[in-house]
Amino acid sequence: MTASGNLDVVVGAGSAIGRALIQRWHAASERPILALARSPSSLEAFAPLGAVRTQLCDYGDAALERLAKELREEQSDVERLVICNGVLQGEGYRPERALNQLDLSAMHTVFEVNAFTPMRVLAALAPVLKRSRAPRVAVLSARVGSIGDNLLGGWYSYRGSKAALNMMLKSAALELRRLNPSATLLAYHPGTVDTPLSKPFHETVNPETLLTPERAAEALDGVLAGLMPAGELSYLDWRGEVIPW
Ligand SMILES: NC(=O)c1ccc[n+]([C@@H]2O[C@H](COP(=O)([O-])OP(=O)(O)OC[C@H]3O[C@@H](n4cnc5c(N)ncnc54)[C@H](OP(=O)(O)O)[C@@H]3O)[C@@H](O)[C@H]2O)c1
Repeated sequence: MTASGNLDVVVGAGSAIGRALIQRWHAASERPILALARSPSSLEAFAPLGAVRTQLCDYGDAALERLAKELREEQSDVERLVICNGVLQGEGYRPERALNQLDLSAMHTVFEVNAFTPMRVLAALAPVLKRSRAPRVAVLSARVGSIGDNLLGGWYSYRGSKAALNMMLKSAALELRRLNPSATLLAYHPGTVDTPLSKPFHETVNPETLLTPERAAEALDGVLAGLMPAGELSYLDWRGEVIPW
């Protein structure tokens, strides 16, 4: 077996941050990368990148089972896994400013994409992470998922879903410690990044603090590289600084 794993995986590769990360990894090494996304148009960007294998994925049980089976059969040794999925707003819903804006269907959607989907991906891939040599796993959370850091209120569904994600990742890290003590798990805040997700809120952001997806990918790459297996979940921002729970 080589000194490092034989595969990097990006789930939610249609995300602006995920796409920039894949391009960065592809430029830096020849290690194969598996990119998963819901739509063919999200995967088109990777067609010219020889080492990137693309796979459509609707994040349903059947697709996740198929993915896990393939990786097990290929005896993949995952070096890095980054799960990018997340929504802040969508058709007919926006981040809530007050309790009277809570809407059950919107809450379901946001919790499903932000908390349930990443956890189901992680659950499906747990056997692969178990047998990988030293997998580094980052799940894109957000600073606004911090309960201690919530001084402004609002954004009930987004904040709540990311806090739920963090809690479930905490349990997963404790379980992963038993499955593979060399694994690392990170709940990650990428900064405020210029992507479709953040675009509607740019007028409230200091332009000097808005990261390009390429800068965000560079920061994520650096933080991921610096992780040491600690047997518990790290909750870090793009500067590598600890975020309070
Ligand atoms: N941009 C920021 O300022 C910022 C700040 C803090 C945290 N984050 C987090 O960073 C992550 C990436 O965000 P981004 O800014 O790169 O956003 P983006 O470009 O809008 O990407 C959206 C991501 O969410 C996934 N997604 C959207 N709808 C989905 C659905 N119905 N089911 C499953 N997956 C769905 C997409 O998956 P496909 O590729 O499969 O389409 C894609 O991975 C998110 O988790 C976000 O919460 C971003």
